Amino acid sequence: MMQTAAQAIREALLTGDARAKVMAARRIARDWRLGRLAPVFDIAMPEQPRWPEGLELLPPNRMPKRGKGGSLKNSIALWHSLAHIEFVAIDLALDMAGRFGGTMGPEFIGDFLAVAADEAMHFAVVERKLASMGARYGSLPVHAGLWEAAHETRHDVAARLAVVPMVLEARGLDVTPAMLERIRASGDHGGTAILQRILDDEIRHVAVGAKHFREASLMRDEPPRKLWQTLVKLHFRGALKPPFNDSARLAAGLPRDWYAAVA
Ligand SMILES: [Fe+2]
Ligand SMILES: [Fe+2]
Repeated sequence: MMQTAAQAIREALLTGDARAKVMAARRIARDWRLGRLAPVFDIAMPEQPRWPEGLELLPPNRMPKRGKGGSLKNSIALWHSLAHIEFVAIDLALDMAGRFGGTMGPEFIGDFLAVAADEAMHFAVVERKLASMGARYGSLPVHAGLWEAAHETRHDVAARLAVVPMVLEARGLDVTPAMLERIRASGDHGGTAILQRILDDEIRHVAVGAKHFREASLMRDEPPRKLWQTLVKLHFRGALKPPFNDSARLAAGLPRDWYAAVA
């Protein structure tokens, strides 16, 4: 019997070991593309995915401040925080496909499984970068708030799309260019290439979110901009902070008149 997509995705979410989760995400994306998973969404996604044993989670306000200088310690802290963002991003994309795939359809599922495979690749290259500096994922505490922002929208695909790809991932578009410039200026060519790759991919991820958000608002017969603004105010606790990377956001299908009004 063919495994169902929901079963495969649930198993990957419940995989705590980082390498094994990376492999599982990439395998599911490939299997889906090749028609090896039944398009059946028959089981629920877990409330909380599994993460590596011993990972220390801190509330956002207790995270140690990261220095901006180019010391090894600061670099490790920067790449470690990126590793965690990419790791959680694997689960966010898998959960999106597994939780809402049944109502949103095959294109949505394929898009978000492809995103999950990208995030798995991002995590793997960032982890390799950490290893080259003598560190590893889990050697520092991590931000506990990332999953919670998503969890809050578990009952509503439009709210999930509004908050995760279109606020959290879009925020990555705003902050990555400055980080990229600092790393380029420090002469770290390998690090520069990794961040450039991630930035390019993230523009696509925001675009995937924006595309399906428009579709979800059509299904509800609501104007997308207004619905997005309402859902962000309702479900996103943080602030939308300028400066915005307007050109990258626009390239991803997120026009300024959407977010400027919420900021
Ligand atoms: Fe990523
Ligand atoms: Fe992403």
